[in-house]
Amino acid sequence: KPVVLSGCQPSGQLTLGNYMGALKQWVAMQDDYQCLYMLVDLHAITVRQEPEKLTNACLDGLALYLACGIDPAKSTLFVQSHVPEHAQLAWVLNCYTQMGELNRMTQFKDKSAKNENNINAGLFTYPALMAADILVYQANQVPVGDDQKQHLELARDIATRMNNIYGDVFAVPEPFIPEFGARIMSLQEPTKKMSKSDDNPNNFIGLLEEPKKITKKIKRAVTDSDEQARIYFDRAEKPGVSNLLTLLSLATGKSVDALVPEYEDKMYGHLKGDVADAVVALLEPVQARFKAFREDRAYLDTVMKQGAEQASARAAKTLSDVYQAIGFLAKP
Ligand code: AQP
Repeated sequence: KPVVLSGCQPSGQLTLGNYMGALKQWVAMQDDYQCLYMLVDLHAITVRQEPEKLTNACLDGLALYLACGIDPAKSTLFVQSHVPEHAQLAWVLNCYTQMGELNRMTQFKDKSAKNENNINAGLFTYPALMAADILVYQANQVPVGDDQKQHLELARDIATRMNNIYGDVFAVPEPFIPEFGARIMSLQEPTKKMSKSDDNPNNFIGLLEEPKKITKKIKRAVTDSDEQARIYFDRAEKPGVSNLLTLLSLATGKSVDALVPEYEDKMYGHLKGDVADAVVALLEPVQARFKAFREDRAYLDTVMKQGAEQASARAAKTLSDVYQAIGFLAKP
């Protein structure tokens, strides 16, 4: 089976964007692939985190992965900092990544604009760590939202570069980007993506938010003001409405094409009500399962321990091959 690797940052509460763009796909891939899913805490500290919040976000994230349907009997589920090979390989890859390549990354530009007082080196070299996350497992497929496409391209370039120098040390990973729902947009500014660390909480829906709050946020979502308030899908002309249709489609399993005619003579308010109901219906069972997992710390520890052991066993093999290929002296 091909190897699949993906992760989310515990930099806040996971959002509906993370669910639609990542978790939903991850669950679907478990039977056909060897899947490794992680919480990327090393990535989270490229932005300053409060220690206690980071710890809790990590435990919440793990319980949410389980609640969404990631099954530790099928997939390897782990915390990135528990597997030291990520950071070790990242250093090596840093030395095979050009400043010019990192300079072109739009996420660095966006994040450094948002965090002007903490533009740290880790934020800049983040894509080299992400490349290490993927390459250390010889992953073939990486399911990501299309916001991560540029980083994945860079991981491919680094892998190819090292393979050209040292022979085939890495599998070159393919992106797996779901065509639809690949990008869930902010509720108040639907031309930018929904992000868990957005300063305005009305822009995102956290997977653990209370149903009442979710409904309120969706009802307040920005719709597009054109002369006739028609409901149709056009991301350029109607970004807000298109985002709502995307959410409705993903939450109900109906295609956008099938949904649009249902709203021919209806108002925005009607659409929003339906989106809110569908999202709440989707999340309520997830929240109930989350609660049970989150209260069982002993179980979470077992999952993390087993996941880290399985992941480390694979990662150590790649790291040792790479060290050898580079010419590092073997540890006697
Ligand atoms: N809005 C989104 N639509 C679709 N997919 C998304 N993903 C994130 N936001 C959306 C996908 O979720 C996975 C994990 O992302 P992440 O948590 O590691 O980091 P991120 O992409 O930077 O997500 P956020 O929410 O924007 O985090 P912050 O605010 O902390 O930077 C990825 O597969 C991503 O594509």
